[in-house]
Amino acid sequence: MKAEVLAALKEADGYVSGQALCDALGVSRTAIWKDMKKLKEQGYEIASVPNKGYCLLSAPDVISENELRSIWKAKWAGSEIHFFEKIDSTNTQAKRFAESGSAHGTLVVAEQQETGRGRRGRNWESPSGEGIFMTLLLCPDLIPVQAPMLTLVAALAVAATIRKKLDLPAEIKWPNDIVIGGKKICGILTEMSAEIDYINYVVIGIGINVHNRYFPEEIAQMATSLYLEGGNQVNRASLIEAIWEEFEGYYEQFTKSGDLHELKNEYNSLLANMGKQVKVLDPREPFEGKAMGINEKGELIVDTWEARKLVSTGEVSVRGLYGYV
Ligand code: BTN
Repeated sequence: MKAEVLAALKEADGYVSGQALCDALGVSRTAIWKDMKKLKEQGYEIASVPNKGYCLLSAPDVISENELRSIWKAKWAGSEIHFFEKIDSTNTQAKRFAESGSAHGTLVVAEQQETGRGRRGRNWESPSGEGIFMTLLLCPDLIPVQAPMLTLVAALAVAATIRKKLDLPAEIKWPNDIVIGGKKICGILTEMSAEIDYINYVVIGIGINVHNRYFPEEIAQMATSLYLEGGNQVNRASLIEAIWEEFEGYYEQFTKSGDLHELKNEYNSLLANMGKQVKVLDPREPFEGKAMGINEKGELIVDTWEARKLVSTGEVSVRGLYGYV
C-alpha cells in the first residue's frame, strides 16, 4: 500500500489531495495519513497543507521494497522483489528462494551483506548505506555452456546504465568487471545449478560501489565508487530499477539466438581492454598478447606474437600489463 501512495506522490506534479488518493487507492483518509507518517519516519520529506493535500519534497536514498515497487518499470525482472536490511549474501538468499520454487525474475536486494561473496572465493565488503547489493534469479531455457555469457550480458547492462543515467564513462574489463578510469566500480558473481544438459537456475549477483568515500589501502589503487567519480546524486533505488530494465532488453536479444552475436559490437565498444596488452593468467601457462575484443561466444580474442588465442571465462583471469586493466 505504501508503495502505491509513494508512486502517486512521485507522479503528482506538485500537490495531490488526500481525497484524490483515497479515491484512487480505495482506502480511508486515516489509512493515507498513516502511510504518510510512516514514509516521513523513513526520511521522505512530505509537505501536508490543508485544502491542498500532500507534496513530496525530497526522497532519501533509501532502498526498500516500497521504494523499489513505487518506481518499478521493468517487465519481468523483479516480478518478485525481496528486500533485506541485512542478509548473509543476496546470491545465497536467491539460491534459497530458487530451491523453494521462486520464479524466474525474482530479485533479492540488501542494504548490507554480512558475508558478501566475490569471485574465486573472495569476500565482497558490503557495508550499510554504501552500495548496491542485489541478485536476480533466472530459470533460462539455455544449456549450461551458455550460462557464462549471461554474466557478460549483465556487465553490458550495468555499464550502459551507468553511462546513460549518470553520464559517467563506465567500461567493461573482460569478462564482467565494470571500471571507470581503470578502477573497479562493480563486480558480478554468477552462479548456477545445473544438470549435464539442463540449467535448473542461474543467479546473477551484482555489487556496485556507490557512496564509498574511501577504500582500504590494499585496494585503493584498484577500486572506486560512483561518488568518487562525480556521480554524487545517485539514488540507488532508481539505479537498480534502470539496470534491470536495461538488462531485460539485452537478455531478450541474447536468448533469441543463445549467443552474443547481436551484442558483441556494443560490448566491444565498451571494453576497457580493447587493443591493450594483457596478461592472461592461465593456470596451465600464462601468456601475453593484445586484446582484440570478444567473439559471439563471449571469449576474449588475444593476439600473441605467435597465434590468435581464444580465452574463455572461468578460471582464467586477465590483467593489464601496466595496471589492473
Ligand atoms: C567480484 O568478485 O568481482 C564479484 C563480486 C560480486 C558481489 C555481489 S554483491 C551482491 C551479490 N551477493 C554476493 O554475495 N555477491 C554478489
